[in-house]
Amino acid sequence: MEEFYCASVLLSVVVAFLGALYIYFKHKFSYWEKKGVLYLKPSFPMGNCKDIVLMRKSFGETYTEHYKMLAGNKFGGIYLTHIPQLMIRDPDLIKTVLVKDFDHFHDHGFASDEKIDPLSGNLFMSTGSKWRELRAKLSPTFTSGKMKMMFHTVIKCGMELQEHLKTPADQGGMLEFRDVLARYSTDVIASCAFGIECNCLKNPDAEFRKWGRRIFEPTFDAIVRSLLYMLMPSVTMSLGISSTPNDITTFFRTLVHETVKFREKHSINRNDFLQLLIRLKNNENLESDASTEDCDGTQVFVFFVAGFETSSTTMSFCLYELALNRDIQQRVQDEIDNVLQKHDGKITYEAVQEMDYLDMTVSETLRKYPPVTFLSRECNKDYPIPGTDVTVEKGMQIVIPVEAMQHDPEYFPEPDKFEPERFSEEAKSSRHHYVYLPFGEGPRLCIGMRFGLMQTKVGLISVLSNYEVGVCEKTSIPLKKDPKQFINTPAAGIWLKIGSRGTKTS
Ligand code: HEM
Repeated sequence: MEEFYCASVLLSVVVAFLGALYIYFKHKFSYWEKKGVLYLKPSFPMGNCKDIVLMRKSFGETYTEHYKMLAGNKFGGIYLTHIPQLMIRDPDLIKTVLVKDFDHFHDHGFASDEKIDPLSGNLFMSTGSKWRELRAKLSPTFTSGKMKMMFHTVIKCGMELQEHLKTPADQGGMLEFRDVLARYSTDVIASCAFGIECNCLKNPDAEFRKWGRRIFEPTFDAIVRSLLYMLMPSVTMSLGISSTPNDITTFFRTLVHETVKFREKHSINRNDFLQLLIRLKNNENLESDASTEDCDGTQVFVFFVAGFETSSTTMSFCLYELALNRDIQQRVQDEIDNVLQKHDGKITYEAVQEMDYLDMTVSETLRKYPPVTFLSRECNKDYPIPGTDVTVEKGMQIVIPVEAMQHDPEYFPEPDKFEPERFSEEAKSSRHHYVYLPFGEGPRLCIGMRFGLMQTKVGLISVLSNYEVGVCEKTSIPLKKDPKQFINTPAAGIWLKIGSRGTKTS
């Protein structure tokens, strides 16, 4: 009898809880209707993003579906579980949000608390005046002069990549390129950001590569953390749960701290980001903030996280398309040969800038496979949308569906076709600038764009000047994306056949 009583009390509590939750969600789901904004009908409890939460589809795929459902409208309301988001589809309005009225939308809108998670004090996560100051401080580290300074370090890694590919090419073997290129870009970013030669190409189990893999691994722990941060940020932070696992934070902070100490003690100077950040630190009025040294560690960490996976997936997707489109591969190689010949066979900074067709090919890769599939902004003061009677409220999350727009046949006819010609000067000038945003736009544009392009192009030149790539039985056609990854990632890697140039890999 007592057991029956307990069970019925428990059942009543559960029913009451679910009932309250349902009423709460119903109230939340009435947001867009009350605002008079066209919206996609949500379902309990995951709104319009069931496939994202259940990791069945990526953000890019899901937002593309929403984009299509909202066709014909400049913007529309969606729900990420109970959280309302405004998706903006109109390129003019996108320009207004990213540039003209940036003052209303200066933050990315990802929750973070530096006290719980010191690495979250990075440029990408920072907000308001802290972001503005940090951006102004860090921008000088990415000028073309600084890029030239780091160029020889990137070239060194490119030559190691070329050397590394010799054996598989001589054997006419199959290779998983995503892993090899992730090791190349880990080497680049480790030496340019941390000043550490980690030799991940030679040693796939190098510690740095291990940590790089760990950051992006969709482990249960990582998935739970990101879901909690996405769905109930304030509760998660008040529970002291950090978005970055503690062991990652400890590894990177210790590494930077010790490298800086070593350099200062031995008066070592190198041409890398860390040196530029040390200089920034030393020029500072030290009383301005006690955590400047920590801040250096934080920024090199974000350069690592933001820089290595984005660039390495771009290179892998590019080689994949070149394996499928051999005429385009040949044209890229002809250009590389011609330009290098003019530069005494050397890959110089200027030579890379002269490779227009390579540039178009990389741009087309970033169109078809943008590593970051959507841009996010948070409205930080109420914003009346021009020409409408809708006001975007403070706190609203804005979604700009980059991948969806870059696959919209209205802007890019036959979007599944790989066509570098879409990026000829003529084609670019006949298109709205804001339909192609792989690096974002406005004051919050990717700060590492130049560096990312440089390392991507050097990697591709290092491969294509000596080798050719073709499809093999392990190549997945069409490519499947990994729904668990935030960055656009091929589910089963990128398997291609590699041979020395002139051998038949097709
Ligand atoms: C192909 C390579 C890359 C792509 C496609 C890419 C893409 C992006 C995108 C879309 C954003 C957000 C922009 C916005 O919200 O408007 C971003 C921000 C950022 N990226 Fe990149 N990125 C790349 C390489 C790099 C590299 C190599 C670094 C550093 C060395 C880097 C560092 C950053 C940082 C720090 C931010 C935050 C900027 C801010 O909030 O002010 N990225 N990137």
